[in-house]
Amino acid sequence: MIVAVLGTGTMGAPMARQLSGRAFGEVRVWNRSPEKAAPLAQEGFVVTDDVAGAVTGAGAVMIMLTDGEAVLAVLEEALPAMDEGAILVQTSTVGLDASERIALAAHEAGVTLIDAPVLGTRQPAEAGELVVLASGPDEAIDRCGGIFEAIGKKTYRLGEAGTGTRVKLVVNAWLVSLTESLAETLALAGSLGVEPETFLQMIGRGPLDVPYAHVKGGLMARRDYEPPSFALDLALKDGRLVLDAAARADLALPVVAAVVAQMARASEAGLGGQDMAATYELSWPVR
Ligand SMILES: NC(=O)c1ccc[n+]([C@@H]2O[C@H](COP(=O)([O-])OP(=O)(O)OC[C@H]3O[C@@H](n4cnc5c(N)ncnc54)[C@H](OP(=O)(O)O)[C@@H]3O)[C@@H](O)[C@H]2O)c1
Repeated sequence: MIVAVLGTGTMGAPMARQLSGRAFGEVRVWNRSPEKAAPLAQEGFVVTDDVAGAVTGAGAVMIMLTDGEAVLAVLEEALPAMDEGAILVQTSTVGLDASERIALAAHEAGVTLIDAPVLGTRQPAEAGELVVLASGPDEAIDRCGGIFEAIGKKTYRLGEAGTGTRVKLVVNAWLVSLTESLAETLALAGSLGVEPETFLQMIGRGPLDVPYAHVKGGLMARRDYEPPSFALDLALKDGRLVLDAAARADLALPVVAAVVAQMARASEAGLGGQDMAATYELSWPVR
């Protein structure tokens, strides 16, 4: 089958690369800013100038864009051009409202939707080791099995389309809280004259350990935020999506709300394009 990938950003480009050399007829890519897709042309991918050129004739269209508004805008062009029976694999993190609007748009266009956000960041994407939170019809997930095997180390089947997005929001509530908590912990360590490595050593391999603390803690300790694995503005977007979802359930999440406020401050300070570990810069030196 021909596979089209819409969006070749931090995640989309390595996900497309994982598809090459597999048993697909052709892998086509499209990106709004052509310069980001250009390196893929040199690697043998078919790079198209427009969305319709990428999706026409494709059996599956994988989309990986910033947010729900971007996905919905691109789908306006993609859905009418998709073949009958083609499957839309939506992997971006879009939140509840957009996920419902995407499902409706796909339904109205007669396109089968797999809502499949992913866990993992740039490095797992480059290694084909994402975790895919697939939700949608089993038969469609079966047909896209080769795609999921290529991009991920594990694919969960979570139920009807939209469930993947709900699971992703739950995981990202944990992720953004953990990151901000880590930033504050390391800032406290610094203010007490305790080296970051000492803290990481103390939690190491014990019940308080989290592998993520070593990855992001290392970036914070080195103040090394570029290129971003997961941009701070995307983490902020996800925090807001978590709060929106909680609000729909009349649920208050004061910790996530504080995280969002802090990440918004970091974004306003110009750190939005850097890795989300840069939120540490707001805590240290103490301001
Ligand atoms: N990075 C991670 O660790 C990670 C992990 C899991 C999930 N995610 C999620 O995956 C998605 C993509 O993340 P990323 O890190 O790959 O982001 P990214 O590097 O910023 O890439 C964003 C992509 O979206 C495109 N885009 C944005 N607005 C658009 C619009 N209006 N129309 C068309 N294209 C548009 C960009 O095109 P241009 O090149 O033209 O700007 C680019 O291709 C996000 O939803 C993110 O939350 C990210």
